[in-house]
Amino acid sequence: MAEQRTVLGTDAREVLDFELMSLYQRVARAVQVAWELGVWQALLAEARSAERLAADLGFDEEMTRRLLRVLASTGLAWHEPDGTVRLTQAGRDAFDPDSPVYYGDGLAHAATVAAGWNALPELLRGGLGARRGGGPGDHRTFVMAMQDYSIRGRAQWLAGNIDLTGRRHLLDLGGGPGTYSFALLEANPELRATIFDLPQTEPLARDNAARYGLAERVAFRGGDYDQDDLGGGYDCALASNVLHGAHHGSGARLKRLAAALEPGALVIIQDFVLDDDGNGPLAAAMFGMYVGVFRVEEMFAIMAEAGLLQPTLRARGAAGSALFTGIVA
Ligand SMILES: C[S@@+](CC[C@H](N)C(=O)[O-])C[C@H]1O[C@@H](n2cnc3c(N)ncnc32)[C@H](O)[C@@H]1O
Repeated sequence: MAEQRTVLGTDAREVLDFELMSLYQRVARAVQVAWELGVWQALLAEARSAERLAADLGFDEEMTRRLLRVLASTGLAWHEPDGTVRLTQAGRDAFDPDSPVYYGDGLAHAATVAAGWNALPELLRGGLGARRGGGPGDHRTFVMAMQDYSIRGRAQWLAGNIDLTGRRHLLDLGGGPGTYSFALLEANPELRATIFDLPQTEPLARDNAARYGLAERVAFRGGDYDQDDLGGGYDCALASNVLHGAHHGSGARLKRLAAALEPGALVIIQDFVLDDDGNGPLAAAMFGMYVGVFRVEEMFAIMAEAGLLQPTLRARGAAGSALFTGIVA
């Protein structure tokens, strides 16, 4: 006899296009190699034929022609009728260093991370200790990649979901390039921010604050967020992408953060976070593979341990991020 069906017992999760997913690795590789070897940069400087590009970069002409077809298929480049290839507006937006949505460092960082994914079999057999490659890479590229990832919608989304009316001084823990702080400062003219990050981040954060016309309202404090004095006088704080799962010292880090804030301070947490059933979102699961990731209930647990009141899941972002708030007792 057929098993009794139930509606609630029916697994109806949307199935991603598995074939397409398995092919995307190749697209990512083509796009990343085009950055590593200077193809995007050359096309930004000047439209060129495959023949010319191959000669300029010392490549095989036929393989260059083939690569350009892949790049044009992404929508970032375009074959002109005369055979030259130029960047489209989307391509210029991504690869012109003066573009407000520049993506060069993001792409370079993605290539570094991809190297670690190539070593997945070793990692599965040997555990995280067998990790080779795929680490944060060069510090400047890593920090500026965080800007590239946040400026394409995430920072705007965060600021649109957080009310800081009446708040005066934000501590941005592990704030990196400061992009999320800048979005909050733009939305709250009375607010100022202190970015706390490793000392080598300071010139990057300062230059970036100046680029957004916010140098006067942004201070930088260098140190190790797990060891050093975080300063004081903060009535709100942001912990964005610095609480990456249980193996990452995240609970103790959040406690230290809460202890540095004034009573009643608002704590904003943004991170990749898995659904409690462990079935996605995909971006959070991918992030958790190499770095670490909390489930929603685990994030609530470390918020409770840090003594935060009114723990709230404010919003879920399209790219696997979740936004939480809590209040310092
Ligand atoms: C994943 S990035 C997040 C940057 C930014 N908050 C964001 O969401 O885009 C982590 C940041 O923490 C900083 N960081 C890492 N370890 C640190 C430590 N021990 N003390 C202070 N900052 C640290 C890194 O330099 C980097 O800027």
